[in-house]
Amino acid sequence: MALDKAVWDVPTIGKRGFELARRVLGSKVEDFELDVLDISPERVGVFDLVLFLGVLYHVPHPLLALERVASVVGKQLILETHVDMNEHDRPVLAFYPEGECADDGSNWFGPNRAAVEAMLRVVGFRKVELMSSTPVPYKIRGAGKSQYGRMVFHAWK
Ligand SMILES: C[S@@+](CC[C@H](N)C(=O)[O-])C[C@H]1O[C@@H](n2cnc3c(N)ncnc32)[C@H](O)[C@@H]1O
Repeated sequence: MALDKAVWDVPTIGKRGFELARRVLGSKVEDFELDVLDISPERVGVFDLVLFLGVLYHVPHPLLALERVASVVGKQLILETHVDMNEHDRPVLAFYPEGECADDGSNWFGPNRAAVEAMLRVVGFRKVELMSSTPVPYKIRGAGKSQYGRMVFHAWK
């Protein structure tokens, strides 16, 4: 099952790429036109493995989004996200109310490693592991010496 409504709704992008890949690969993937906040076990089902890649920092309600995602994970989640403020050990999230992150108004929050791990535990994962951490070249206005980049986590129910 796949959902990517935010992009499929953009007239200049649409769903053509997804449909081409599905056809060429002979894939049976089902598509749902839902916002991540609207998924639930009743609406989409529960899956052994869920990929939540590059979306967490695009939602204005990250903990709620993770609650929804966790509700459809049977065993394991793979989460990839932008992260910020990794110079702090305590769980903190940078807030970008005015497109401070890469001049992109759809980037809302940069959680640090501790915040991602804590949020994953709060929404019901018993084991969380950081799998990779990569610095990135994009600019964040006002970030000073903050440590930011991308991280991949695996989490298990
Ligand atoms: C940086 S792209 C990542 C795309 C892809 N998952 C990847 O890893 O290459 C951000 C994606 O977040 C999706 N997105 C943003 N807000 C969303 C929301 N509220 N619900 C579901 N998807 C959302 C967009 O559709 C877009 O495809």
